Amino acid sequence: MSELKEVLTKDGSISLRSSLFQENFHSLEGALKETEIKFINPSDLKRFKDKSLNVLDICFGLGYNSASLFNNLIRQNSFVNWYALEIDKKPLEYSLGNKAFQKLWHPKVLKIFKALSQNSQYRDKSFDCDILWGDAREKINNIPANIKFDLIYLDGFSPQKCPQVWSVEFLEKVTQKLNPQGYLITYSCSAAIRRTLKDFGLNIFNIEPDLVTQRLWSNGTIAVKKIDEKVIQSNLYFKKLSSMEEEHLLTKASIPYRDPALSSNTKDIIQKRVKEQLLCNLKTSKKWRDKWGMTK
Ligand SMILES: C[S@@+](CC[C@H](N)C(=O)[O-])C[C@H]1O[C@@H](n2cnc3c(N)ncnc32)[C@H](O)[C@@H]1O
Repeated sequence: MSELKEVLTKDGSISLRSSLFQENFHSLEGALKETEIKFINPSDLKRFKDKSLNVLDICFGLGYNSASLFNNLIRQNSFVNWYALEIDKKPLEYSLGNKAFQKLWHPKVLKIFKALSQNSQYRDKSFDCDILWGDAREKINNIPANIKFDLIYLDGFSPQKCPQVWSVEFLEKVTQKLNPQGYLITYSCSAAIRRTLKDFGLNIFNIEPDLVTQRLWSNGTIAVKKIDEKVIQSNLYFKKLSSMEEEHLLTKASIPYRDPALSSNTKDIIQKRVKEQLLCNLKTSKKWRDKWGMTK
């Protein structure tokens, strides 16, 4: 745990800070709140009441996103086929040993997490769960090719700190695993990530800030291959991109992260992108920010 330090967030839920990645696992506003606002609400889980669904959680960490997902699915009698990718076992060991974390969830969630920690899998009549430990760039290949996901949560450290899980090449693999009407959900509103997903032909939506987070312009991104207008209109949590957001995708900030052999380190991926940004003729994101009067 030496490179991981406990952080108490404003909603009272605990999180971690990684000194290796120099970043917190969650926003200081609240780990639990972030999970609900950025991942669970836009998932519109009631669609799966009494039904089955496939879910992939990339960068499982302490497990907030999946714990909250399971908590909801247990209560509505859904059947889930679930995979997770995570490089480090310590965050799960940490959350399992933390009283405040345990208190948040249905006892069955903790039973599943314990099994994942001990055996990397859990099975009963409603839950079929596997966590694949190791670099997501490799382990994603171990998910059976026939499984397409209704929900994919992508919750890596920020692209600048952990570009390995945001590269064109990795996102292409992720996209291949998405059901035609499945949702790929991430907290990131980075122009590079949105443009990469758009270039794969996905439809991009903004997760709109709610009352608490309205000083921000985005709570993340949802990407969908095939849109069912009725479903999209009934989901209150995501909206088509505004002109401001569309213009963001035309700036230097939209230059993607590249990792051709899926084995580059952070420094190489970032340096390659900076070079590409210098050479391209796109508008700077500063100009975009100034035009739209943005402070951050
Ligand atoms: C922002 S945290 C995830 C937060 C998490 N969803 C939660 O609820 O606690 C990012 C996670 O990505 C993991 N990670 C970093 N690089 C990875 C890689 N190449 N493959 C898989 N996991 C990785 C880290 O170990 C960390 O647990």
